[in-house]
Amino acid sequence: SQASSPLEQVCEPSPYSDDESADMDWDNLGFGLVPTDYMYTMKCSEDKFEKGQLSRYGKIELSPSAGVLNYAQGLFEGMKAYRREDGRLMLFRPDQNAIRMKIGAERMCMPSPSIDQFIDAVKHTALANKRWVPPPGKGSLYMRLLLLGSGPILGLAPAPESTFIVFASPVGNYFKEGLAPLNLYIEDEYHRAVPGGSGGVKAISNYAPVLKTLSRAKSRGFSDVLYLDAVNKKNLEEVSSCNIFIVKGNVISTPAINGTILAGVTRKSIIEIACDFGYQVKERAIPVDELLDVDEVFCTGTAVVIAPVGSITHQGRRIEFKTGAQSVCRELYSTLVGIQTGLLEDKRGWTTEI
Ligand code: COI
Repeated sequence: SQASSPLEQVCEPSPYSDDESADMDWDNLGFGLVPTDYMYTMKCSEDKFEKGQLSRYGKIELSPSAGVLNYAQGLFEGMKAYRREDGRLMLFRPDQNAIRMKIGAERMCMPSPSIDQFIDAVKHTALANKRWVPPPGKGSLYMRLLLLGSGPILGLAPAPESTFIVFASPVGNYFKEGLAPLNLYIEDEYHRAVPGGSGGVKAISNYAPVLKTLSRAKSRGFSDVLYLDAVNKKNLEEVSSCNIFIVKGNVISTPAINGTILAGVTRKSIIEIACDFGYQVKERAIPVDELLDVDEVFCTGTAVVIAPVGSITHQGRRIEFKTGAQSVCRELYSTLVGIQTGLLEDKRGWTTEI
């Protein structure tokens, strides 16, 4: 049981004893950082992770020559813990994030925590910050997992030490639009990823380069940017913060995983749910021109969950899509969120109690 965990010895008072809800306005959660009580740290040198430990949430110490600061040797993951009506705290497919971090760590020349170490760290972090898990239906506790090349290095090489950190923040909807449809902007000038690059893993270095286009699009009133492939400059890839799907009749399509697209856990789950519902799901190349002839577009991601897209603007032309209560997007959203929050039966064993 958690009560016997040696982790408790490093944190007084026990992180697991405080069940009182945090003093938060749970009705107005967005996706901003709310510092919580504890974070979890586990260091690795010579390919062996030491025992992880919880400590008070706060600053970390890094050498200016840390690999992550100089050469962006780092990965991240995002996961959510939900509070159910019966009070239980649940995680959604944590093994999938653990596997993705392993694949990313291999690409970025870092050791990675085992699947058990990863899930254990997430559970400890969620339990230690239990009072920050929003009430049912109000949001979730978003956990951010970092794997950083923390050791000092000068010449270009893998850092001699890595650090795995988990911290948490209560969150609501990712977009300021809430559950209202998004307006996306297609970017022609810049690309998110190239074949052979790191776009397919959750490298921290994939995210800063999209800030320029994202800020520009936001200043023009768009919600986010949709990127095209860097080779043909015509196929849909993904949005800065999430994957993309299109719907035409009974067929749901999403760009195929080809090394430049992040293999989202929500993306994978939606594909399974849609297939079970009888939709034909295709993972394939989607030329941008096809947007002129689709019924619906939606985005998926851990932070985003499933968000309807109301319009996409490309080269001055705005294309609009169906959204609303009768949409496929809404049907899939209700099912996924129902499973995650325990309102629907989890027949696939996707949820894990903390
Ligand atoms: C997530 O969905 O967890 C992500 O990592 C996307 C991030 C840009 C918020």
